Amino acid sequence: MDRLISFGLPTDRDAGDRSCKHLCGISRPLSGCSHPTCRLAIEPGQHFGSRYPGKPNEVMVYDFLPDVLLEKAPNRSEFLGALVLDKWTGNADARQAIFSRPGIERWHGGGRPRGFLASMIDQGYAFGGPQWSFFDSPLQGLYWRPAVYRNVRSCDDFQPWIDRVVRFPEEVLENARSQIPREWILGEEALLDALLKKLLSRCKRVPDLIADSVHACVNPFPEWREPHAVSRQTFASWFQHPPVKVPESQQS
Ligand SMILES: Nc1ncnc2c1ncn2[C@@H]1O[C@H](COP(=O)(O)OP(=O)(O)OP(=O)(O)O)[C@@H](O)[C@H]1O
Ligand SMILES: [Mg+2]
Repeated sequence: MDRLISFGLPTDRDAGDRSCKHLCGISRPLSGCSHPTCRLAIEPGQHFGSRYPGKPNEVMVYDFLPDVLLEKAPNRSEFLGALVLDKWTGNADARQAIFSRPGIERWHGGGRPRGFLASMIDQGYAFGGPQWSFFDSPLQGLYWRPAVYRNVRSCDDFQPWIDRVVRFPEEVLENARSQIPREWILGEEALLDALLKKLLSRCKRVPDLIADSVHACVNPFPEWREPHAVSRQTFASWFQHPPVKVPESQQS
């Protein structure tokens, strides 16, 4: 996570570099299982956490801002930086962010601070999540609100982020690797080294991966067979049938 900060993106520093003995006895829901009794005990040891951007009883955090506020977020251009990082690290998820006010005064040169700052959270599906692989689809890594990309015209809009990836110093990665708790990667050291090697070798592909997002589109009806516009004939047929009569017993 410190590497994300060194990349220059806003995120909430991990609070997990301590031994979390006090977490023992707490349990968490088992991922993918909605039954309330389906829980796993948290094991003692180091855990990763995402720090709340302030005192929880004083600071409100939002997952969603309406477009009118999102467009005014002073650091909304950092969604472009996040996309660069997500494409590089093969984040197989959509981008996730939270919004809050602490730190907003830094973005307003002395004026009355307004609006909310975005903070990038949940990088859990970088490297394809548990797959440790790069799938590279045009859709992945994109934030679900197009408003943050509205002004993008070309890859140039993703500078200086692209430059930071293309010139990413190998030693920063090595340093990050050396800080991973040994027990997190026990038996998987070689796999991790291969993954990091691949990560470095794909730096130069990032501009192409960004450009590929132009082809990202979501069709909610993949089995749709009709031409895009509803044909006149179909449209007319909807109105040819007499109105359906509701039986008297069902009338309220
Ligand atoms: N640093 C943080 N500060 C405040 N709230 C946070 C922080 N990180 C996460 N949250 C809150 O917790 C929610 C879930 O976090 P996160 O997305 O990291 O977990 P998840 O297991 O991926 O859950 P989901 O599947 O709902 O996305 C977020 O939507 C946000 O409301
Ligand atoms: Mg999430």
